[in-house]
Amino acid sequence: MKPLSRASAPAKIILFGEHFVVYDRPAVVMAIERRAYVTAKPRADNRIIVVKSREMGASGAFTPSGEYQPIEGGLEFEPKFKPIYIITKRILSLSGEETLGLEIEVDSSIPIAAGLGSSAAVAVASASAISSLLEMRLSRDEIFRLAFEAERFVHVNPSGVDPAVSTYGGILLYRRGEGIRRLDVEAEIPIIVGDTGVKRVTGEMVSRVSDLLMRYPTVVESIMDAGENIAKLGVEALKSGDMRTLGELMNMNHALLCALGVSNDMIERLISAARRAGALGAKLTGAGGGGCIIALPEKSNVQGITEAIRNAGGEVFVTAKAFEGVRIEE
Ligand code: MEV
Repeated sequence: MKPLSRASAPAKIILFGEHFVVYDRPAVVMAIERRAYVTAKPRADNRIIVVKSREMGASGAFTPSGEYQPIEGGLEFEPKFKPIYIITKRILSLSGEETLGLEIEVDSSIPIAAGLGSSAAVAVASASAISSLLEMRLSRDEIFRLAFEAERFVHVNPSGVDPAVSTYGGILLYRRGEGIRRLDVEAEIPIIVGDTGVKRVTGEMVSRVSDLLMRYPTVVESIMDAGENIAKLGVEALKSGDMRTLGELMNMNHALLCALGVSNDMIERLISAARRAGALGAKLTGAGGGGCIIALPEKSNVQGITEAIRNAGGEVFVTAKAFEGVRIEE
């Protein structure tokens, strides 16, 4: 066993297909440069799993019976730490080291509950750091599966798109029943991310769509069919570097998400600010209900759009290409 292991995994933006992907439609997703870092170390006291997060200012211990005891912060952090605990237990059991105590420290620059896949990135980096500490050499597919299993415990019906892109990186076409297809995109895809600052729970938004699907199956199915067609055309536009088409398709995808009731006032405000400032397209990204929007600029108007989103009340950062998936840091 190593004395310490550190791994990282990237955040993501969804270019096309959030929500539809839960129902086995395709999503196009891109890893961005914000990363979650996880450090794993053995502990002297056996069977205790301690999890810490710098950003949340919280830590707690899971006892051998799986009970959560807060150290810093209250019991409200248990659901945030539970996927890490599930992954740790699973890896310890796979390695035959069930009695080992571990300390897992999360250090992430990904905004939480903002639609950028922070919990999946933490889960993927945890699986990688813990397995590497135990010198297990898991494949990417195995890391993805461990992170996805853990997400299933805490989210309503997750599609797996978030742990997939955090694991493999790049730009992916993801379909639940089929897995990933890496897209070779030569063009730089400049993306401006605007954070509404409104936190939301992915599961609640997923439940909202499933409720609508139950009440209006034919309508919601045809909205999802349209979403699927947009994603397919989006893949072509990405490959040929056709930014104008990409932007128009993003706008159409956003309109479909509005029809499903997952946008809100603040999202609309940031999107219209971006479009008025000349964005080729803009949409919410992730589950909606708050979280982030993405805008596609032309080279000449990156600054104008950035300022417009900021003036409308959003926190902004710019990302220009797809980033590497999970990696060991040391
Ligand atoms: C993923 O970031 C957002 C949703 O599509 C849920 C999922 O795919 O699990 C809304």
